[in-house]
Amino acid sequence: MHIIKLDAIDSTNTFLRHLSSEKTVEDYTVVVANSQTKGRGQMGTVWNSQPNKNLMVSVFIDVSFLKIENSFYISMATSLAISNALKAFQIKPVKVKWPNDILADQKKISGVLIENVIKNNQLQASIIGFGLNVNQTYFEQLPSATSMHMVSGKVYHLDEVLLSVIEQLRYYIDILKTGDFQKVKDLYESELFRNNKPSTFKDVKGVLFTGIIKGVSNSGYLQVLIEDEILKEFDLKEV
Ligand code: BTN
Repeated sequence: MHIIKLDAIDSTNTFLRHLSSEKTVEDYTVVVANSQTKGRGQMGTVWNSQPNKNLMVSVFIDVSFLKIENSFYISMATSLAISNALKAFQIKPVKVKWPNDILADQKKISGVLIENVIKNNQLQASIIGFGLNVNQTYFEQLPSATSMHMVSGKVYHLDEVLLSVIEQLRYYIDILKTGDFQKVKDLYESELFRNNKPSTFKDVKGVLFTGIIKGVSNSGYLQVLIEDEILKEFDLKEV
């Protein structure tokens, strides 16, 4: 493992993507920044994080062993890695909100942004970016955000938390390397927030509907049993 520590950067994901396009990057190269000026979230959102308090990390992983249609398994492995690392630090209850938000006490403690490098229609590498709120003490105007400190009252060493997440990530990626996709999927579904419970969703038109989350498909669609007993699959942009 090779760790690159930066003070301030626009985005660790952008940095690592550029670096890997310019030169050969070792498997499990980890970029960690004290602060980001243009932290990116899912679906074009921004990721804001107080400097020096939280983890802002991107990891380069060779995923050429995976078929492109199985790329959601990288997301499952990452969510499991973060949730298990949190549990190792006695943070609980921890759940994964599909597709890959990590919740502690039903509030968001971590977000994941995965960017895949694809060549000739083949998966090559994954840049796994995650923000994990560690020692931040409050979130202005973000009542649904939390941190490890806010859950436990403790102060954590960022490096220790980082190493724990990377160790867990390697563990789940190694399971995928053995081909045991079902194990990772079962574990992911067992961590899924509101799995098997009735939930209310909003579709693209803003229409509310209720359904029961049943799991995810191999390609990462959320499977929801809706009122008329039909299992429907939803993409991130759809609910
Ligand atoms: C989300 O929940 O929307 C995903 C947030 C991902 C944020 C992390 S912080 C480190 C890495 N670099 C980025 O620019 N984004 C990710």
